[in-house]
Amino acid sequence: MQPNKLNEPLDEVRQGEALMLQNETQRVGDKKLFLESYGCQMNFSDSEVVASILAGEGYCTTRNVEDADLVLLNTCSIRDNAEQRVRKRLTEFKSLKKKKPELVVGILGCMAERLKKNLLEEEQLVDLVAGPDAYRDLPNLLDEVGTGQRAVNVLLSREETYADITPVRLDQGGISAFVTIMRGCDNMCSFCVVPFTRGRERSRNPQTVVEECRSLFNNGYREVTLLGQNVDSYRWNLSSKGEIVDHNEPSVNFAQLLIMVAQVSPQLRVRFSTSHPKDMTDEVLEAIAQYANICKYIHLPIQSGNSSVLYRMNRGYTRDWYLNRIAAIRKIIPNCAISTDIIAGFCGETEDEHSETLSLMSEVCFDYAYMFKYSERPKTLAERKFTDDVPDETKSRRLTEIIELQTKHSLFLNQRQVGQVQEVLVEGPSKRSAQQFCGRNSQNNMVVFDKKNVAKGSYVHVKITDCTSATLLGVLVNQEKEQQTP
Ligand code: SAH
Ligand code: SF4
Ligand code: F3S
Repeated sequence: MQPNKLNEPLDEVRQGEALMLQNETQRVGDKKLFLESYGCQMNFSDSEVVASILAGEGYCTTRNVEDADLVLLNTCSIRDNAEQRVRKRLTEFKSLKKKKPELVVGILGCMAERLKKNLLEEEQLVDLVAGPDAYRDLPNLLDEVGTGQRAVNVLLSREETYADITPVRLDQGGISAFVTIMRGCDNMCSFCVVPFTRGRERSRNPQTVVEECRSLFNNGYREVTLLGQNVDSYRWNLSSKGEIVDHNEPSVNFAQLLIMVAQVSPQLRVRFSTSHPKDMTDEVLEAIAQYANICKYIHLPIQSGNSSVLYRMNRGYTRDWYLNRIAAIRKIIPNCAISTDIIAGFCGETEDEHSETLSLMSEVCFDYAYMFKYSERPKTLAERKFTDDVPDETKSRRLTEIIELQTKHSLFLNQRQVGQVQEVLVEGPSKRSAQQFCGRNSQNNMVVFDKKNVAKGSYVHVKITDCTSATLLGVLVNQEKEQQTP
């Protein structure tokens, strides 16, 4: 998934380590909920569903943990350090619980699903454990806790998409929102815990997706990011063989869904994450090229540049296949930015195999990359079939080589943009200086420029004057754009 605009550290490290979003205070009832999210954008989006379900139970959210009656951590299991972070955070609540014994502490999300009721034994502080498909049951689980029991629901579902729940938007930016279009993953990449924590893949009714996007637009939002672990396998009303399931309902694939959302308004930017190299079709690329408001940015995780490693990872494509997909992007959408995910030191990775990752990076020249050391996860195919045999120092050294190369590429591509005039959606004040605004261009670069009389949520033109490897700096060249034509 892509970097999260709500939280800058994700620009450096992704998923699990970095995303820790605390919600703003919102008044709904008199009980107070402190909700903290770790992991991917999907988890953040789920937290908004949780806040909505609990608002119905009279909970308003608070930023101050000391005020809370209920503390919920929405957790991530993608790498071991993501789980360690949550365990450490739990120890910080110990003194709070001593002072306020009636405080309820719950674990949600992927770590809840992975560890199930063992979490209650391992973490004495925890009263409640709920997996990603069990959030509708939270009111009942809280009732159980109220009677002095500890409550668990980690049932995974084949149908749950929370399609009818209107999320409570937890960021107060009000410009950019996540919209979940599907849940789960059927891919079984050998390193990945997600199929175990999120269950089977299922798509959400496209009408509810479009309605949510329309309502966001009417409430002032100007950008939506459609979320799924593998958006290219989005399919509504089609069987896995491509047959129509219900003849009264239209079938919709991802390219068609993108267009439906893009047609909500030319003023609504559409992003999406994550694409899978084995499934990304030219039809999707053509939809992106055809609509000005579908952002020219694709996150296409490669993981490794070597075909044998990709085979061991069970990714379903080779180096050549990936390069062919890159060629298709360049041909169909010439101004498209591309980012990727890379894992250093997967089981059995040799020095030659690692150097193929570096050579692929040089061949593609990614705009951005999220780079990780391989972390073995319990129950995955890799844990059962292979040995985690690359020494930690070697993993670290390879990761450093990958990061250094990527930093050069990002800087090179950013420097090429100096002098260009770009359209930027104003997100708000820059985090670095109150004198400046920030926003993103279509290619997902963060652009920082001096504050003038422009409103959050407007489209402006900025001339790029300078850059770092992470940010473009520029000056406003004219006033708000009136119309964007697809
Ligand atoms: N569905 C997305 C990715 C989800 S996880 C996709 O298929 O690309 C996000 C990223 O975390 C992955 O792309 C991978 O690079 C990384 N990741 C997943 N499992 C990992 C592990 N066991 N060790 C290190 N990195 C991992
Ligand atoms: Fe994990 Fe692979 Fe599914 Fe992505 S596609 S969530 S990496 S199993
Ligand atoms: Fe983490 Fe679960 Fe997302 S494991 S990356 S929170 S799907």
